[in-house]
Amino acid sequence: MAELKGLILSGGKGTRLRPLTHTSAKQLVPVANRPVLFYGIQAMADAGIEEVGIIVAPETGDEIRAAAGDGSAFGVSITYIEQASPDGLAHAVLTAEPFLGESPFVMYLGDNLLRDGITELARTFATERPDALILLTPVPDPEHYGVAELTDGRVSRLVEKPPEPETDLALVGVYMFTPAIFEAARAIEPSPRGELEITDAIQWLVDGGLRVDPHVVHGWWKDTGQVHDMLEANRLILDDIAERHDGELVDSRVEGRVCIEAGARLERATVRGPAIIGAGATVRDAYIGPYTAIAEGVTIESAEIEHSIVLAGSTIRDLDSRVEASLIGRDVTIGRGPAMPRAYRFVVGDSSEISIL
Ligand code: DAU
Repeated sequence: MAELKGLILSGGKGTRLRPLTHTSAKQLVPVANRPVLFYGIQAMADAGIEEVGIIVAPETGDEIRAAAGDGSAFGVSITYIEQASPDGLAHAVLTAEPFLGESPFVMYLGDNLLRDGITELARTFATERPDALILLTPVPDPEHYGVAELTDGRVSRLVEKPPEPETDLALVGVYMFTPAIFEAARAIEPSPRGELEITDAIQWLVDGGLRVDPHVVHGWWKDTGQVHDMLEANRLILDDIAERHDGELVDSRVEGRVCIEAGARLERATVRGPAIIGAGATVRDAYIGPYTAIAEGVTIESAEIEHSIVLAGSTIRDLDSRVEASLIGRDVTIGRGPAMPRAYRFVVGDSSEISIL
């Protein structure tokens, strides 16, 4: 069998993560201070995959290229493949056909996170040699995902986001394919949402009598498509974070597992982990609570924050109440105004959301 290749889908629109995705690709929003996309690339490297193709959209391609580079930082070689428009996951597969050639491949949705990686799956795929292998996990809201039905341990039916799901088994955004998928992707028609669905292409394989094996995922899995999913993914990754104190601590208290990057400075601060504080961040007279990721160059001063993600270069200062369950973009300033009248004053971008006491 030819070498297993990797395909990461990092195109698409990202409408559900606005306003962050007005200016940036959703796959680059950081979880525990690392872009979501990097976890997928790392999973491929850990599974021994050397050649990784990344599907990018024309609008966000440059930014993704700048972030992930040639892949050498991960120990893989990355080829960028531009998809002219977001016409579906099966369309992305067809766009990547010249890169994938005759190789079997693992397809990984660039906004997904899978705790246990793909090493075991790649091994099962190589030894069992089905025509495709799909990952499934029980979820409370299957209507938001592709849903699978099984018969005698094999996949018998797949439906994309059915209003009334027959099972609670959602398709996880990681798939193993052989080149048979190209013929399937060419054979199907666009769905009601106007996309060539990978779910329909896999159903075409099943209908043609090909072998599609299911694998039920037991470790956690997260699709980070929405804000509450991002916060949840941040919590899950921080739960496993290694403790490290490379920054400078002055009259500060750190409890639990906290990663403080070099160049960060804490003055009269309390940090309760799990949490991460990025390089060059300043935390002064402030409290950072559990499940918080503070990115590079952020300032938190005379404020309290927990269970939140703050992106690079932002400042939060002089707040009376604690900030929680928040996702704050790059170079944002939140603080108390210096002058009377005492009033709220906002300069906020499109599709933002503000909740006040
Ligand atoms: O997360 C799992 C779910 O992912 C599955 O259960 C569904 O069966 C599957 O269709 C997919 O559903 P979503 O609606 O969540 O897919 P989304 O549009 O968010 O796209 C997933 C990733 O693929 C995302 O990183 C963007 C990228 N993408 C998407 C499209 C439509 C592309 O690169 N090109 C595309 O044309």
